[in-house]
Amino acid sequence: MRVWQDYLVSFSLIAVSVSAIGLEKRATVPAFVRQFAPVVFLESTEAFFPSSIAQQVANSHPEDFAGRNLSSRASLTLANLNSLNTFGSNGSNVSLTSDQGIRALPSWFHGAKPTTNGSLPGNTTATAVVTVSKPNNILDAFFFFFYAYNRGDWIFGLPILELGDHVGDWEHVMVRFQNGTPQAMWYSQHSGGQAFTFSAVQKFNNGSRPVVYCANGTHANYATPGPHPLNITGLNLGTGLPISPVTDEAGRGTLWDPLANAFFYAFDNATQKFTAYNGQDPTGWLDFNGLWGDLQLPLNAAGQVDLLGQIKYVSGPTGPKFKGLGRANVCNTDVSSCVILNSLGA
Ligand SMILES: *[C@@H]1O[C@H](CO)[C@@H](O)[C@H](O)[C@H]1NC(C)=O
Ligand SMILES: *[C@@H]1O[C@H](CO)[C@@H](O)[C@H](O)[C@H]1NC(C)=O
Ligand SMILES: *[C@@H]1O[C@H](CO)[C@@H](O)[C@H](O)[C@H]1NC(C)=O
Ligand SMILES: *[C@@H]1O[C@H](CO)[C@@H](O)[C@H](O)[C@H]1NC(C)=O
Ligand SMILES: *[C@@H]1O[C@H](CO)[C@@H](O)[C@H](O)[C@H]1NC(C)=O
Ligand SMILES: *[C@@H]1O[C@H](CO)[C@@H](O)[C@H](O)[C@H]1NC(C)=O
Ligand SMILES: *[C@@H]1O[C@H](CO)[C@@H](O)[C@H](O)[C@H]1NC(C)=O
Ligand SMILES: *[C@@H]1O[C@H](CO)[C@@H](O)[C@H](O)[C@H]1NC(C)=O
Ligand SMILES: *[C@@H]1O[C@H](CO)[C@@H](O)[C@H](O)[C@H]1NC(C)=O
Repeated sequence: MRVWQDYLVSFSLIAVSVSAIGLEKRATVPAFVRQFAPVVFLESTEAFFPSSIAQQVANSHPEDFAGRNLSSRASLTLANLNSLNTFGSNGSNVSLTSDQGIRALPSWFHGAKPTTNGSLPGNTTATAVVTVSKPNNILDAFFFFFYAYNRGDWIFGLPILELGDHVGDWEHVMVRFQNGTPQAMWYSQHSGGQAFTFSAVQKFNNGSRPVVYCANGTHANYATPGPHPLNITGLNLGTGLPISPVTDEAGRGTLWDPLANAFFYAFDNATQKFTAYNGQDPTGWLDFNGLWGDLQLPLNAAGQVDLLGQIKYVSGPTGPKFKGLGRANVCNTDVSSCVILNSLGA
């Protein structure tokens, strides 16, 4: 009898510790992540606004890289998008292709313009916040912004020379915390970006939240408003040119509060698993290995342009898990050196 009682006691202790682990997994979003979350200014003439991540899937169909439709048994949702990973060896050759095609510019490419208080109408979710805990009490909070369409930049400011259009646009900024204090921030810009100390960047209404200026069309993220000339290999036409032929335009236009409606996840770098903080936000889409837009059009397709290797209709991007979530430095892993600037003027 005595023995059985002991068993019962240890059994209930195990049950208690299991439920404690369960509670820990459903942790709440750290308050400091919300307190120091970025606020975005879209350019005043922006035409391609943040877009519903779920709507993108609803308006697209999966194709292989030969342009053939993939038959999927169930209709695709954010919860089951990773079912496409069974295609080929891991689904990386799947493109979520817009039903109308990139050249049709359907109205849904324009996304949703934020209302005056900065939230997107109709509970549009275009933001995924992903926290990643790292050694030395570091927590990186990634803020992923989704746009249905990336309108490429205009060469010499000429709309007829528009290059780099793509369906689906994943952008991000990251705030690095140590012991809950913001230290530095990463702004993604095209294939690279910039890092600043947290104290260097502008704060919204002089409060705690850093400001992000989103470039017109391309949605590259900048710490300052105004024109940002790009240095594109092959397009700067030699060393003699005094101005860059390609410039991102950013400005204090439409306010967007990306926290107004967002999914919140924790990412465990050791297991590469995403967990929804509320136990409800879908995770299947985060595991999808393919492209979030049409594949680059063939060079002989109607309307396609190849100007010195710069293409007009290019492929859509991969999703958040391919943006260096496990990075050791503040900068994305794609960047060879990581300089953290301590002033905006640098
Ligand atoms: C921003 O892009 C839209 C079209 O996407 C264009 O109408 C507008 O002129 C652009 N603004 C600037 C400052 O280039
Ligand atoms: C592929 O599927 C889409 C959406 O269901 C459809 O509009 C399109 O006609 C299909 N293409 C082919 C080649 O069957
Ligand atoms: C992707 O497709 C290419 C051919 O288009 C093929 O060589 C490659 O093995 C495929 N990769 C995967 C992961 O299926
Ligand atoms: C998918 O498979 C290809 C080829 O086998 C490989 O190069 C690629 O890294 C894989 N991608 C992922 C996300 O596993
Ligand atoms: C912002 O405005 C929308 C309606 O336009 C409303 O539903 C929402 O509650 C407002 N949010 C805040 C923070 O005031
Ligand atoms: C937005 O979400 C809130 C809370 O979930 C809900 O009460 C409201 O009806 C939603 N509004 C719209 C326009 O879907
Ligand atoms: C923020 O602080 C700066 C410098 O103290 C001041 O010039 C500016 O007016 C303030 N802005 C707001 C929105 O309060
Ligand atoms: C532009 O890029 C080239 C090649 O990457 C580099 O050598 C050059 O220094 C860059 N120029 C500026 C002004 O950053
Ligand atoms: C995250 O995981 C990747 C892949 O296992 C590893 O290369 C990287 O060092 C990890 N990052 C950290 C900060 O531990």
